[in-house]
Amino acid sequence: MSDRVISVKGLSKTFSSVQKQPGIAGSLRALISRQKSHTEAVKEVSFDIAPGELVGFLGPNGAGKTTTLKMLTGILHPTSGEAHVLGYRPFDRKPELLRQIALVMGNKNQLWWDLPAWDSFVVLRELYGVPKADFDRRLDRLLSDLQISDKVNTQVRKMSLGERMKCELVAALLYGPKVIFLDEPTIGLDLISQKRIRDFLKEMNQAEGSTMILTSHYMQDVQELCDRVIVIDHGTIIFDGTLGSLMRRYSDKRMLRLHLSDEVPAEDLGRYGELHNTDDQSVVIGVNRSEISQVTAAVLANLPVVDISIEDVSIDEVIRNLFAEGPPA
Ligand SMILES: Nc1ncnc2c1ncn2[C@@H]1O[C@H](COP(=O)(O)OP(=O)(O)OP(=O)(O)O)[C@@H](O)[C@H]1O
Ligand SMILES: [Mg+2]
Repeated sequence: MSDRVISVKGLSKTFSSVQKQPGIAGSLRALISRQKSHTEAVKEVSFDIAPGELVGFLGPNGAGKTTTLKMLTGILHPTSGEAHVLGYRPFDRKPELLRQIALVMGNKNQLWWDLPAWDSFVVLRELYGVPKADFDRRLDRLLSDLQISDKVNTQVRKMSLGERMKCELVAALLYGPKVIFLDEPTIGLDLISQKRIRDFLKEMNQAEGSTMILTSHYMQDVQELCDRVIVIDHGTIIFDGTLGSLMRRYSDKRMLRLHLSDEVPAEDLGRYGELHNTDDQSVVIGVNRSEISQVTAAVLANLPVVDISIEDVSIDEVIRNLFAEGPPA
């Protein structure tokens, strides 16, 4: 095996669809003129992932994350470029590869809705040809780690979102995949369930050495799980490196969080530092660490401050900044 589990080079995906104006006239026009629109969802993306890495794949809505994961799992064919997973091209959909990878999507149900989870697990065991002893051992462990043993005989449709998500994870991991793609596995879950799933993923990654790519809009997931992050925006990678190195770029900054009694024009606020977020009367200003006391005094003297706090830069803020300004210098 090479030192790369995943290798992606110049991968692109453009979706084409026929544009249609609303109404019958629009439908007729579309028939005649067939105006096509193109969405470049993923543009020339390249990265390598080594065995056992747990990589966060981040980006705003519509950035191209799901599209990339679908290409890496063979669901979508790329428009151009290359991808290899465990040495195979995913879009060839070779059973040898499919048996070694899993895709878990938080917003999509992959279990059979009307069956108890247990029945789905058994079908998967047959489908993947997992030896009974391995299956029993793995299932036991997965169910107890995720604390979901008491729900396996419940119809999936009757489960809560969190219970269903745990069963989805069990189903995806039953056959011991080497590479696991997780597309927002904690979406919509309460904080305790999110935490349990994070702990579980961390343990899987450490115990089995499985390689994982995870997308999430919850920075807590990324902070706890991922040493490395790849950030994508408008289909293009804008950062690939350790989370630590990304945060260090901002380590000389602190965030002055203000609550104001009146709205203050942005240009007046901008005088005190880098304006990060203005939301009615709530304002966040980035200030150099060395100037913080001086700036705080000036803010208190000149602005209608109701409440003030000084914070380290949060990972949310760093990522939001990346999207707003492009890659840091
Ligand atoms: N089947 C499709 N046909 C046409 N356009 C599509 C299709 N799937 C995705 N797109 C477009 O491709 C772009 C990337 O979508 P994608 O689902 O990869 O984003 P994402 O990063 O996963 O976003 P989110 O965080 O909202 O899940 C979007 O502009 C989306 O509208
Ligand atoms: Mg998505």
